[in-house]
This record gives sequence, C-alpha cells and structure tokens, in this order.
Amino acid sequence: MSDSRPIGIFDSGMGGLTAVKEVIRALPYERIVYFGDTARVPYGPKSRETVIRFSIENILFLLKYKVKLIIIACNTASSVALSIARKNFKVPIIGVISPGVDEAVRVTKNKRIGVIGTRTTINSQTYEKMIKQQSPKIKVYSAECPLFVPLVEVGWLNTQITKQVAGLYLLPLKSKKIDTIVLGCTHYPLLKPVIKEILGQGVTLVDSARQVAMQAKEILIRQRLLAPKKNRGEGNLRFYVSDEPDNFAELGKRFLGFDLKNVRKVSNV
Ligand code: DGL
Repeated sequence: MSDSRPIGIFDSGMGGLTAVKEVIRALPYERIVYFGDTARVPYGPKSRETVIRFSIENILFLLKYKVKLIIIACNTASSVALSIARKNFKVPIIGVISPGVDEAVRVTKNKRIGVIGTRTTINSQTYEKMIKQQSPKIKVYSAECPLFVPLVEVGWLNTQITKQVAGLYLLPLKSKKIDTIVLGCTHYPLLKPVIKEILGQGVTLVDSARQVAMQAKEILIRQRLLAPKKNRGEGNLRFYVSDEPDNFAELGKRFLGFDLKNVRKVSNV
C-alpha cells in the first residue's frame, strides 16, 4: 500500500528548511508542503498563548493540502504546542524536541549538556525536563539566544557581528565544561561554523533535523503511508510563506542548496 498525499512541515520562517533538507534525503519520493510564517517571525519572544494560536492556524493551513503527516519544524512551537496539537488533530504530528533530546543523551560522555534556543523554548524548560526524564544525573545548562534568528533571517551567517554575538551567548556555556550542545532552534544549524569556532572541537553539536526525518520515515513505514516510488519531480516541493516570497526563495537556497521554485505568498493564515 502507498499514499501519495504530501507531508506538511512548518516553521516561523526559514529555519524549518533544515528539516526539509533531511526529509528530502531520507524520503526522496515524498511530496512536501512547507509553510514559513514569515509575516509573524520570530516566534521566540512571543507568549506561549500566541505561539499555540499560530501553530494551530498553521496546522489548519497545511490540512487544506490533505497532508498525511505534520512536522512542527520549530522548537518554539514544539515546546509549547505539540501536545495540544496532538490532542486536537487526528493527523500524526511530530515535533523537533524529542529527537534532539534522544541524540544529546546518547552522545554526551561527561553528562553535561548545553541547550540553546529562543526565549520561549528556554523558558518552557521542555528540553531540560525531557533530558532529566531520560537521565536524571545529566546536568543541563540552557541559554536563550534571541539575536540568532534575526541574524539567520537576514543571511548574516558568518559575519564579525555574528561571531561577537555568538561569543556573548556561548562562552558562559563553554565555561560549564559541556561536551554536547543541542541547537534547540531550527535556524541555528546555519550558524554551525561560528558555534563550532567558539565552543571548540571538544563539544558535539546536536541538531534534530536528521533525527526528525528518521522519525517521520518510521511513522510512514509503520502506518503504511509511504509515497509510491514513481512520485519524483519538482512539483514534489511546494513552499508557502505569509510575507513576500523573494527573500525566502533567495535565502532558502542557502538552506537547501538548490533553487526554490514554487514559493508562494498566502494571506489567509
Ligand atoms: N526556528 C524556530 C525554532 O526552532 C523559531 C525561531 C523564531 O521564530 O523565533 O525555535
């Protein structure tokens, strides 16, 4: 049995494209509908209630495309809206937090993990709680990095200013002797070179994109929802944004490594 309905993926902006890239790699025949809520990015400094409302609206938007699985490719939304979304919708929904937690707990040797994310993600303490659930002895050091998302959204991935900002956020974590850091925001993998430079070789960077793609694959296999193998082609990827599409298409190329066709603005979210 196969199912050619698309997978729906959303984020507040471009960050979720890091998950899209891995989903394409793990599931090359699947159609994908991506929604980037660029008119309302960033979600990170917004209240829990607002992020939940946006997340529900985004899910309702994706459901119009008859998606068979939804990936909340946003840590902020996953940390506050995943369980509510699961209770309210029948479609399988996965978030990006538990895959990152599993990986971090697996790779840490000295049991000292750093977590960086947006304000709402860090305030929710979701990472900390989930890591401690798996291994109560692990020490977790968290830091919010509110300027990272705007830096990524404007494409300042490796500038002097980006390095200075990263230094301010990350050096206090480095001094805690962490050996693993969770990039708890889907925008942050784009800053990996800068983050690595500051934290040094001894710290493993964990981003959940790969793990979330593998989780999506497992669900599709288990529920017999994989797409038929013939389902290839450019039409497989559709991108919708809530603000002007040009910037998204241009920067999206950096995330995905190829030109983004089919980026359309929608105003009904
Ligand atoms: N990329 C998102 C995350 O993973 C949200 C960033 C934001 O909009 O502040 O948290």
